[in-house]
Amino acid sequence: MTSFGGYQNEIYLQGLGDQVPMFTTDGSRLEEAARATMEPGPFGYVAGGAGAGATLRANREAFDRCRIVPRMLTDATKRDLSTTVLGTSMPAPVLLAPVGVQSIVHPDGELATARAAAELGVPMVLSTASSYSIEDVAAANKGSNGDGQRWYQLYWPNDDDVTISILSRAKAAGFTTLVLTLDTWTLAWRTVDLDQAYLPFIRGIGTAIPFSDPAFRAGLDKSPEEDPTAAILRWIPTFTGTDKRWDRLPFLREHWEGPIVLKGIQHVDDARRAVDAGMDGIVVSNHGGRQVDGAVASLDVLPEIAAAVGDDLAVLFDSGIRTGSDIVKALALGAQAVLVGRPFVYGLALGGQDGVRHAVRSLLADLDLTLGLSGHRTSAELSPDTLRQS
Ligand code: FNR
Repeated sequence: MTSFGGYQNEIYLQGLGDQVPMFTTDGSRLEEAARATMEPGPFGYVAGGAGAGATLRANREAFDRCRIVPRMLTDATKRDLSTTVLGTSMPAPVLLAPVGVQSIVHPDGELATARAAAELGVPMVLSTASSYSIEDVAAANKGSNGDGQRWYQLYWPNDDDVTISILSRAKAAGFTTLVLTLDTWTLAWRTVDLDQAYLPFIRGIGTAIPFSDPAFRAGLDKSPEEDPTAAILRWIPTFTGTDKRWDRLPFLREHWEGPIVLKGIQHVDDARRAVDAGMDGIVVSNHGGRQVDGAVASLDVLPEIAAAVGDDLAVLFDSGIRTGSDIVKALALGAQAVLVGRPFVYGLALGGQDGVRHAVRSLLADLDLTLGLSGHRTSAELSPDTLRQS
């Protein structure tokens, strides 16, 4: 059992030696801190949402409308945040969300994230749009604390041989759960990126996994190292532009032995279809407001989805989490665990591996203390009654 709240004492004690944290401990201010140091292209890519940013804002507003009602004299001194989701044991119900192209914010990118995740024992979900190969990230995730916990996120290629090859590499590299992202079969109208004409992929960033893949390379006349433009031109139709249907899911089941989680669910009927399709979990997510502008806040649909399918598969949540209290709210509304995106990416931008560690430790300390001070010892004690809508 890890006492994440202990980070508070550590920080105050360091203050006796005139040391302050490397950057803010307030997850809601990380974006502002990162904006001051990041290049405009990468900053816009991380911070931006789709269209006019309505869903990006809605995700935050939904958390702000929802308030915790603290309970007293419950002896919440000793807390246990640990949990097991789909066979993966984790020290807290928190995973690092799949985030592609991390090298645009720091040269060490996903390697730094994988090292920090291993140090903390927090599971990471590796994106198909990683800047480093599956094997390199897996090696970095084998930290001094032992092997990390890693899940693999798939952007489903429009080429079965490439899909099969990537899945077998992920399995061989120790990724245990497959997270299939459904909401980004093509990029949304991302105005912040369009206004700067900035897209990492056409610069060959975020293509390391296919470019190192034997099945993908077999379809090229020259290697990506010899002819990067031709490789990018093949990457585009392989990974974007074609949506799939529910009846294709058995193909993945055939080629992946572990649990499968569908990411991007926002409608109760889609959650039920995931159950009918024999899926093991879903992530209630709107991709952090980066895909359908004007879509509902992810938190607003969580209660109805958790009520409909929470007994049938693992319900995870993301989109808009910035603080410990946000996590308490999502857990209270029925999430078994949450994924956190931008906060750790800003940590990466601000301080590489140390920055990810500080951002995630701050979030977990805030979660631990907020859980206890609101009268709870475990996340299982949370329920919708913990909250009030204002
Ligand atoms: C993402 N997200 C994402 N999701 C995914 O399944 N594969 C991916 O490659 C990416 N890439 C990506 C890049 C960047 C820069 C961001 C900010 C997000 C979405 C991510 O997994 C998650 O759904 C959101 O980030 C959650 O919202 P918050 O926590 O960022 O508000």
